[in-house]
Amino acid sequence: MSRTPPSGVRSGYDVVIVGGGVEGLAAAWRTARRGLSAAVVDPAPGGGATHASAGMLAPVSEVTYTEEPLLRLGLASLAAWPAFRAELEDETGDDLDYRTEGTLEVARGADDMAVLDDLAAFERTLGLRVERLTGRECRSYEPMLSPSVRGGLLARDDAWVNPRRVVRALLTAFEKAGGTLVTERVAGIDAPGPGAPCVRLESGGVIAAGQVVVAAGSWSASLLPSLPVRPVKGEILRLRGPRGFLTRCVRGLVHGSPAYLVPRGDGEITVGATTQEMGFDPRVTAGGVYELLRDARELVPGITELELAETTTGFRPGTPDNLPIIGPAGPPGVLAATGHGRNGVLLSPITADAVAAFLTGDEVPPVARFCDPGRFSQ
Ligand code: GLY
Repeated sequence: MSRTPPSGVRSGYDVVIVGGGVEGLAAAWRTARRGLSAAVVDPAPGGGATHASAGMLAPVSEVTYTEEPLLRLGLASLAAWPAFRAELEDETGDDLDYRTEGTLEVARGADDMAVLDDLAAFERTLGLRVERLTGRECRSYEPMLSPSVRGGLLARDDAWVNPRRVVRALLTAFEKAGGTLVTERVAGIDAPGPGAPCVRLESGGVIAAGQVVVAAGSWSASLLPSLPVRPVKGEILRLRGPRGFLTRCVRGLVHGSPAYLVPRGDGEITVGATTQEMGFDPRVTAGGVYELLRDARELVPGITELELAETTTGFRPGTPDNLPIIGPAGPPGVLAATGHGRNGVLLSPITADAVAAFLTGDEVPPVARFCDPGRFSQ
């Protein structure tokens, strides 16, 4: 991949994408594959929310199920994941640790089980496969579960992936498609009129392009103040254990908050996540780590034996209606692909397809109409 040094004005790109997280890179890859010359600008690609993310591809369990447009978007993107993954793995030879064993949502009391039964009924109306299990059946699937688990649901259509591997593969695939990575900080975007918009770099350089895509996650509003995107802090842990300690994602409601454990093929288990409206507070707090371990231990007591390998903070890019913002964003030639909240990795295939279609003038997937940036000004 060409990694350009800072200098003067660069031009000749059809598209410049600001932000090299999973959305920006997926969109850049898809765009370059359609024959457009594309550059991604990010001082640390994959270092934002994607780095913290657990990578669950679980539209129903991650969404409040009254949020129907978000659900429909999530289901469309979940359906696109197998082909997206196959193409990315074929192109790069990378293994994304894409797993399809499903999610086990467990209940520890009768109230929790009633909530899960409602969820199961709803999932079935969406045509999703979901099985009601007794506590014993839950433990036969996942022997490390607590004896206090009273029952649960097995959501067989849920999947998950390692987001850090996805980013690595996207960088490789983008390079193979002829893309340029500019590892610099962006100072601003200038789009004064119908001419080509420009991306100003902190180094003093300028990149001119036919079109610019703002895919800067929680930082998007600092580049385009009309975007109502805010950071929603999440603290998350990574534990290291023996392979096969868990084989499925395990979720449960503990002390009123959702807790999840996401196993990887190499024995790592991601435990998440706190949800706090605290602006860009980068600290991992003692209280956050305590709560995550406490809640995860209630579901899977044996996790206290595992190594605490990593603590991370990420900033989910939140929006007022929890839907992402994808499409022409106001200034001529400037598009947005941001605001993916809790669902960035899940929504990356549908976002990439929508962005590539907007950029090339092709037909945009109909479900992306929910994400119109103009909806906030109406
Ligand atoms: N998608 C999981 C989270 O945001 O915590």
